[in-house]
Parts: sequence; C-alpha cells; structure tokens
Amino acid sequence: MNKSFFIKNNNSRCNIIIKSNYIQNYLNKLIRKKRKIFCIVDINVKYLVKEILELDNCTIIFIKANESIKNIKVYNKICEKLLIKKIDRNSIIVAIGGGTIGDLVGFVASTLLRGIEFILIPTTLLAQVDSSIGGKNGINTPFGKNLIGTFKQPNEVVIDTDVLRTLSKREMKSGYAEIIKHALIKDFKFFKWLDKNYKKIFNLNNKILREAVSKSIEIKLWYVKRDSKEELISDNSRAMLNFGHTIGHALETNYKYSNKLNHGEAISIGMITEAKISQKFGYLNNKNLELILGHFKRTNLKIFDPQIKNKKTIDILLNDKKNSNNQINIVLLRRVGSSFFKRNIDIKKITDIINKI
Ligand SMILES: NC(=O)c1ccc[n+]([C@@H]2O[C@H](COP(=O)([O-])OP(=O)(O)OC[C@H]3O[C@@H](n4cnc5c(N)ncnc54)[C@H](O)[C@@H]3O)[C@@H](O)[C@H]2O)c1
Ligand SMILES: [Zn+2]
Repeated sequence: MNKSFFIKNNNSRCNIIIKSNYIQNYLNKLIRKKRKIFCIVDINVKYLVKEILELDNCTIIFIKANESIKNIKVYNKICEKLLIKKIDRNSIIVAIGGGTIGDLVGFVASTLLRGIEFILIPTTLLAQVDSSIGGKNGINTPFGKNLIGTFKQPNEVVIDTDVLRTLSKREMKSGYAEIIKHALIKDFKFFKWLDKNYKKIFNLNNKILREAVSKSIEIKLWYVKRDSKEELISDNSRAMLNFGHTIGHALETNYKYSNKLNHGEAISIGMITEAKISQKFGYLNNKNLELILGHFKRTNLKIFDPQIKNKKTIDILLNDKKNSNNQINIVLLRRVGSSFFKRNIDIKKITDIINKI
C-alpha cells in the first residue's frame, strides 16, 4: 500500500509520501536535480546515503542524534558548515533521522537565509507518525523544550517503514506512545484497533505498521489543517495534540533531556497522569480510565516516574509557555477518543492529585 497526503497552508504546501523500500531511490532521483543538496543525517542511518556520498552537488553532514543536539550551539555549527559550503536560497536541505534531527534541521532550514526548501525523511516511528508532520520546528533551552522555533512546513516528507527494522524496541515504544495519543484524543475505533493489533506493530508487520502510521498522520493532519499555528479557537485546535505533553515536557526538562527518559516515555507518564487528572475532575469516568490503564499495561508503556512529584517538576510546569499566574492550561479527556482544552486550573489542585498518585 502506497499512500500520500497533501497539506496546504496560506503560503506553503507539503507532500507526505508513505512508500516501501523507497529512500535510496528517492535520494538518487533528488540529486539529479540541478540544485545543491545538503543532507543532514543521523549517524545511525548512514547506510541510507551511501550511494550519494561523493557527489559534487551533494554535501552530507553526519550527526550523532539525541535530544541534546536540539540546542543553539549545534544550530550555529550546522548553519556555519552550510554557509562554508556556499548554501544558497535555491538549495535543498534534507533531514534524515528521528525527531531531534527533523526539529533541529527544520529550524535551520526555516531561518537560514530566511528560509530554504527542506525535505524530511523520518527514520524513527515517532518522527514518522508525529514530529515530521505539521511544520513545527525548534530547539530546546534550559528553561524548557522547544521554546525557540518556527512554524514552517517541509516541502516533502518521505516515510518508509522499512527503515524501522534497525530501531530499538525502546524507540519503537516511544513512537507508539504518540500513536496511542492520537487515538486517545480523537478516535475510539482506532484505540480498539490498536488494542487488537499492537503486537503486530511492535513485531514490524509491514501492513499493520503502515496502517497505524497512516491513520496517525491522518489524525494529526486533521488538527493541523484546522489550526496550523495552535491558535486555540476550539476543541478542534492543534493544542489537543499536546495531551500528555504538559506533564511529559516538565518531566523531560527535569531530566535535562537525558537518555534516562525519552520523549515517548515522558509523554506516556504524562498521558496517564493527565487521564487521572481528567478522572479526578469528573470529566473521565472510571471505566474509560481503566480502559486506558489496561492498554498501557498490556503494551508495557511507562505509567509512573517518582520525579512527577518533585517540586522542580512542578516549577517547570508553571514555566510552560502555555501557563501563567500559578494556573495551568492542560488538555483533558472526556472519554477515549474525545479531548478538550481546560484553562486556568489552580496548580495546587494539580499537585494535590499528583501527590496522591
Ligand atoms: N515537531 C513536532 O511537531 C514534534 C512532535 C513530536 C515530537 N517532537 C520531537 O521529536 C523528538 C524525539 O524524536 P525521536 O524519538 O525520533 O528521537 P531521536 O531523533 O533522538 O531518535 C531516537 C534514537 O533513535 C536513533 N535512530 C533514528 N533512526 C533510527 C533507525 N532507523 N534505526 C536505528 N536507530 C535510529 C537516533 O540516533 C536516536 O538515538 C523530541 O525532541 C520531540 O520534542 C517534535
Ligand atoms: Zn510528542
């Protein structure tokens, strides 16, 4: 099954292609264009560029990717390397790697020379179902995640689930967390389907995996198309995609983005905590909470970390770019498949609930 999506905003358009065994062909075709190509590649997938390594119009920069590369120093270094190699506004930048490479390179491409065409080739499940979709680019600061960034769609996203064969089980689970998030906020049927098929996803059954990736992208695009810049007009806002992320990001920041807790693990804990908050406030009934907890336990997703009770995590929560005046804005659930944005909850109420978990 090949599939493609197309998204158009005011001044940008993006093709999303889902195809098997395709990346090397795609790159071979791309470098035939009479334009300078700059590939920024995660060292873990360097085999993908082996056929285009020594070409005149193609510069390749390898990076050992992890969350800590999303910072201003690495951003500077990449910009300088590209400028030394005489990048111009007619060049194309290609990011090949997981979400950290995609976020960072997207930020480079959308700012360098006031914006250069770019292509994302996501190689983790998380990047395929989430981070490469929707045009958010950015880097972290010690004050929090993604606090510096841009909204700019890549020109193309090329998704090939075959590259996931080398991905660790831990990273597969991290990506799965974003898939289940899409089901929880918007699609009960998809949740039930995942509950039936999750083993096949983890075992890399190509057909099921592609179906999960494609459905996930469809849900994310549904929100992006309605609210590309997260302007929070209604419960159809892109902000719903932040379910699990308010607490998840605070945890990640507390862990200083170290490998002790990856993004999917942090938001898994965040989703369960925010589901519990939804239940304590009386929005989500016990049956739905049990459904969610049951699925997280079966799939072995993380549901707790003692650091959520740490005062530092709470302080970071208050610094979240969405919050102010000791009050928290957060996405909650009404039931599996339905979410809404709750404004101005007193932080004390949240900490009371968290401390009893
Ligand atoms: N922009 C957005 O809308 C958005 C949405 C969700 C998440 N994100 C961001 O995405 C980032 C997380 O992305 P991630 O989980 O992909 O992390 P990552 O890029 O660090 O990749 C995880 C690990 O997998 C390795 N890897 C990548 N592809 C591989 C492959 N095919 N085989 C073997 N190893 C491979 C990487 O080298 C890395 O060690 C976070 O920074 C998060 O904030 C952004
Ligand atoms: Zn996320």
